[in-house]
Amino acid sequence: MKKLLPFRSVLIFGGAGFVGSNWAAHLLDTSDARVHIFDNLSRPGVQQNLEWLAGKSIEPERLRFTRGDVRDASAVTRAVQGATEIYHFAAQVAVTSSLTDPRHDFEVNALGTLNILEAARASGRQPFLLFTSTNKVYGSLAHRRLILQDKRYCPVGEPAVNESQPLDLYSPYGCSKGAADQYVHDYHRMFHLPTVVFRMSCIAGARQFGNEDQGWVAHFVHSALDEKPISIYGNGRQVRDVLSVCDLILAFEKARLEIDQTAGQIYNVGGGAGNAASLLEVIEEIESITERRLAFSFEPPRPGDQLFYVTDFDKLSQHTGWKPQRSLRQTIEDIYEWSKQRRAISQRVPMPALSRPLLDGIPEAAS
Ligand SMILES: NC(=O)c1ccc[n+]([C@@H]2O[C@H](COP(=O)([O-])OP(=O)(O)OC[C@H]3O[C@@H](n4cnc5c(N)ncnc54)[C@H](O)[C@@H]3O)[C@@H](O)[C@H]2O)c1
Repeated sequence: MKKLLPFRSVLIFGGAGFVGSNWAAHLLDTSDARVHIFDNLSRPGVQQNLEWLAGKSIEPERLRFTRGDVRDASAVTRAVQGATEIYHFAAQVAVTSSLTDPRHDFEVNALGTLNILEAARASGRQPFLLFTSTNKVYGSLAHRRLILQDKRYCPVGEPAVNESQPLDLYSPYGCSKGAADQYVHDYHRMFHLPTVVFRMSCIAGARQFGNEDQGWVAHFVHSALDEKPISIYGNGRQVRDVLSVCDLILAFEKARLEIDQTAGQIYNVGGGAGNAASLLEVIEEIESITERRLAFSFEPPRPGDQLFYVTDFDKLSQHTGWKPQRSLRQTIEDIYEWSKQRRAISQRVPMPALSRPLLDGIPEAAS
């Protein structure tokens, strides 16, 4: 008897990365979706995420990998064929790198996104498409009044940022992500693609290869474990809200399930006021969890850095019922546990090469 194709054929651009691998794992563990990861593995460390996914006990045909670049329009078009859902996480992710090479940043983030949108439009299938934008599209928010209290800035007046905040694209990264964000939104208006934009603040959790340029909570935890000092840009009193990647994944599910409400919408997504802390407060929390001191020194602030950003996620809550579940402390503990496990494994056995059956496309990924 002919086997019916599963309904969900999920394509994840940037699926080997932090957000992408957590989302892929969730789909493989909790649904019968087929998952196709498209990633150029440019982020150091993410091959380990792919190996972790490949090690799951699932039917082999449920996971497929293409080593490819979103700047390559033909490769993107081939990948999009047959997808019923697309999650676009592939990106040049750091403000700092966008300042060193704005052209590369533009080509990956803006042009890469246009390639995906055009492929989705040409496919004729109207796939669901979710794009992860950033709170950096709101700029430095320098006009907001703040007062300095001991270890953190505190807002005077409305603390959280909702979607009515005007765009103020700041830094090449802010500009390229903002352009992509607006294109994704517009492809719903012009071509009726069911697209959703998540403007995310700090996401943190296991499988995050955080470094000084991006993924700061993980970077701080890894540095505490490695006993390496960190640099703090500014006075450390700047406040961010942190969202667990576990909660982000539940938000992806909700956004897809409530597609009648969410198609064509933009949402601010983050941990909210309950999960907001200054850098100095996060360091204290990390020291209490890891029972290690984290040495740090202060450097001049980075241009455009937001001194206070807390997400108002009310719109997403109202449309889907979503709310974050995990606390900031639990999120730090998740990173700490994963980091310890990873260290223990890498000390015992060298990482195996990626298994060949997973590969599709560029063969050198196996070597
Ligand atoms: N993590 C956060 O705190 C955060 C916050 C706001 C927005 N975002 C956005 O969420 C998305 C995912 O972020 P993440 O933290 O998982 O980052 P990540 O670096 O872990 O994942 C991105 C993945 O994209 C891949 N990639 C990079 N350039 C590519 C290209 N040209 N073609 C194909 N693949 C490419 C990388 O190899 C990596 O696996 C990004 O779009 C990022 O801008 C993340």
